[in-house]
Amino acid sequence: MSRPQTAPASLAATGATPLRHPADQARSRLADEPWYLPMADEIALFEAAYAARLPVLLKGPTGCGKTRFVEHMAWRLYRGGDGTDDGGDRRGNAVPAARRALETPLLTVACHEDLTATDLVGRFLLSGDETVWTDGPLTRAVRSGAICYLDEVVEARKDTTVVVHSLTDHRRVLPIEKTGEQLDAHPDFLLVISYNPGYQSVLKDLKPSTRQRFVSIEFAYPPIDVESTIIAHESGIDASLARQLAQIGDKVRNLREHGFEEGVSTRLLVYAGQLVARGIAPRRACDVAIISAITDDRDVQRAVTDIVDVLLP
Ligand SMILES: Nc1ncnc2c1ncn2[C@@H]1O[C@H](COP(=O)(O)OP(=O)(O)OP(=O)(O)O)[C@@H](O)[C@H]1O
Ligand SMILES: [Mg+2]
Repeated sequence: MSRPQTAPASLAATGATPLRHPADQARSRLADEPWYLPMADEIALFEAAYAARLPVLLKGPTGCGKTRFVEHMAWRLYRGGDGTDDGGDRRGNAVPAARRALETPLLTVACHEDLTATDLVGRFLLSGDETVWTDGPLTRAVRSGAICYLDEVVEARKDTTVVVHSLTDHRRVLPIEKTGEQLDAHPDFLLVISYNPGYQSVLKDLKPSTRQRFVSIEFAYPPIDVESTIIAHESGIDASLARQLAQIGDKVRNLREHGFEEGVSTRLLVYAGQLVARGIAPRRACDVAIISAITDDRDVQRAVTDIVDVLLP
């Protein structure tokens, strides 16, 4: 379909397309395999969903590995799997050359309450004295055949639902209202969204008509053995200290019964390990990466301190 390059000045948008950090850009090119330790059958499920081009919803608490999982899957499906390594399709199928050649296989958008469909789809920007259409991240993924990952999608404004809906049913089409274009999705395009059922209010729940367009893979914090391996790998600390941190995580999550809902994320346990790996005493690392990081409530902090005292005397 044709793509208009210019537009009347009245259509010019004042906002700029958000610039991405160079490190993010390098990451999204996925030159290296993002390390991911599977919990269950999520890799096989995602591969099957991708093969059928079924949109995927990742559900789970903060810092439990959803983003790392998508990065890993994008690597497998666009970079790995030449039939000789363990990436790509588990059945040993090679990744097609055209997909391998795609410069940016994964476009991630962190959704927030001011994020509009325009931010996702694109806008006219002033360039000299003319206005030029600029694709947003979703449109770039739809055109190129990348995976678009909308993180915390329920935070986004309601008008984003329209574009999500038409892309995630049999139409696979992106309506670009401002140019009048109906953009057919590239055959390799896939939409992945994430959702944290814990702290988002009922008001911000996904509508059935939205959520029932996705297969839903549920994530949770891993069991102690798995989490120890993750902490050791990600921080470089030894296995026994990694295990102690994982045990702290497990006990803190059990405080839920005492009215502390959030628990502690794998991310924070990794942070604690990373501080220790850089010379901070384990006890002190837990103060800043766990105890103060998870809550301001003094009672909860005391309860967590007790756990840390027992496990790291
Ligand atoms: N299964 C896993 N394999 C490898 N690393 C993991 C795994 N789970 C968690 N991690 C580690 O935890 C960190 C946080 O995970 P990640 O950023 O993927 O969480 P998330 O679920 O996307 O959280 P949020 O909902 O806050 O965005 C990762 O950077 C990684 O170090
Ligand atoms: Mg994330």
